[in-house]
Amino acid sequence: MAAELNPKNLVPLAHLEHGGAFADTLTLFGADVGNKTVEIPLDELERYAVRPFSIAITPDKSRMFITCEGSEIVTAIDVPRLLTFVRTHHGPFASDLSASGNYVTARIAVGHDPRGTALTNDGRRLIVANRLEDTLSVIDTHSNQVTSSVPLEGPKQMSVLRHGEQTFYTAKYSFQGQIGCANCHIDSTFDGLTWDLEPDGMGRNVVDNRLIESLKGTEPFKWNGGNPDIPTECGPRTEKYFWRSENYDDLTLADLATYMLSLPAKPNRYKLPGYELRPAEARGKQIFERDTDKFGNPVPLVNRCSYCHSGPKGTSQKSFDVGTKKDTDDSGLLDTPQLINIALTAPYLHDGSARTLEEIWTVYNPNDKHGRTNDLSKDELNDLIEYLRTR
Ligand code: HEC
Ligand code: HEC
Repeated sequence: MAAELNPKNLVPLAHLEHGGAFADTLTLFGADVGNKTVEIPLDELERYAVRPFSIAITPDKSRMFITCEGSEIVTAIDVPRLLTFVRTHHGPFASDLSASGNYVTARIAVGHDPRGTALTNDGRRLIVANRLEDTLSVIDTHSNQVTSSVPLEGPKQMSVLRHGEQTFYTAKYSFQGQIGCANCHIDSTFDGLTWDLEPDGMGRNVVDNRLIESLKGTEPFKWNGGNPDIPTECGPRTEKYFWRSENYDDLTLADLATYMLSLPAKPNRYKLPGYELRPAEARGKQIFERDTDKFGNPVPLVNRCSYCHSGPKGTSQKSFDVGTKKDTDDSGLLDTPQLINIALTAPYLHDGSARTLEEIWTVYNPNDKHGRTNDLSKDELNDLIEYLRTR
């Protein structure tokens, strides 16, 4: 068995009401299901089981329990009923929100961000770790009731960051509790997918997801620089287009914004103290900063990498059209993205069209609008990429 989160990222997200942006499912395989793979939904109309995480099965194989971190529940499944359903119905089931009523026997409310589980040897009790609460919930597996909650010596007071983080992970604010921020920004990072967010028709203005680390000093936000600050990015926009539901109160939004701005860049071996650029990286840095091309011609200021990608984070925080607009985009004017940990965030460009760093220039820079690069040999472009990896 495997728990799955299936994004429907190219369906406009503004259509949350019409069917969901994600399906939360379980895939079964093995002899009990005829040695096929069978994907079954955990969601139910108006009640979702967001981001299924871990699965526990009782020793007699009669019941299964799945933590669903975004919904803050444990989903209980009756295994014989599930197998009967699978054997007597024709799939595919994954998007059928009426299916789970045949085998889900309880949705047990637990604490914030339930993840890991363990069953006692006799299968009578299920222990659930609530990651963002520093508690364990103990569930009686016959009655499907929480019998106790065990505190784990966490901080006594709720901190701003913890509250912001809980808000980021929960799905409770969205329409019918379908999604949370962490559905796309998985474990507070990103999913590498291109999303159709705005209510502007199918396939218009699709946007690659963005890393949400090291955000301080990189505003405005969004590829098009449309959001001046984090409360705007995460508040009204989210409420209108994503959640279509309950609003954050002021304190919750403020704490979420503080959490967003607190996420540091992941450690990277190039940033260790005393790291010196290797020769290829140093040559790449020169290309990044150069003011003369290989033929001795001056590179105009707006064609130098270091002009637009300036400062420690690699952004001048200004918008430019670097010739990357596609027919499906309304505008080619984009905010200069930061370059921190750029090696880790493929695909590239606002629409995720460049699969690798190389393609940004070998495929999408025919006219040198995105820096002067067409005079470079393959080795020199490689040097530039080697340097970018150190950012
Ligand atoms: C459906 C997937 C999805 C969900 C849910 C989601 N995001 Fe995003 N997020 C994206 C995408 C895609 C972008 C890039 C959008 C753009 O630039 O137009 C983005 C951009 C951002 C940015 C801007 C980063 C930058 O450098 O410009 C922030 C901050 C952010 N998201 C925070 C959040 C928060 C907070 C939540 C929950 C309230 C959230 N996101 C929910 C997909 C998602
Ligand atoms: C005129 C300003 C400008 C210049 C010059 C420029 N860039 Fe960019 N850069 C941008 C903008 C704007 C984008 C966003 C384009 C898009 O997403 O379609 C971008 C995107 C990128 C990206 C992809 C970021 C991501 O997260 O997908 C990288 C990497 C990059 N530039 C590096 C460079 C290098 C290296 C050079 C020099 C060869 C360079 N840029 C020259 C403005 C500039």
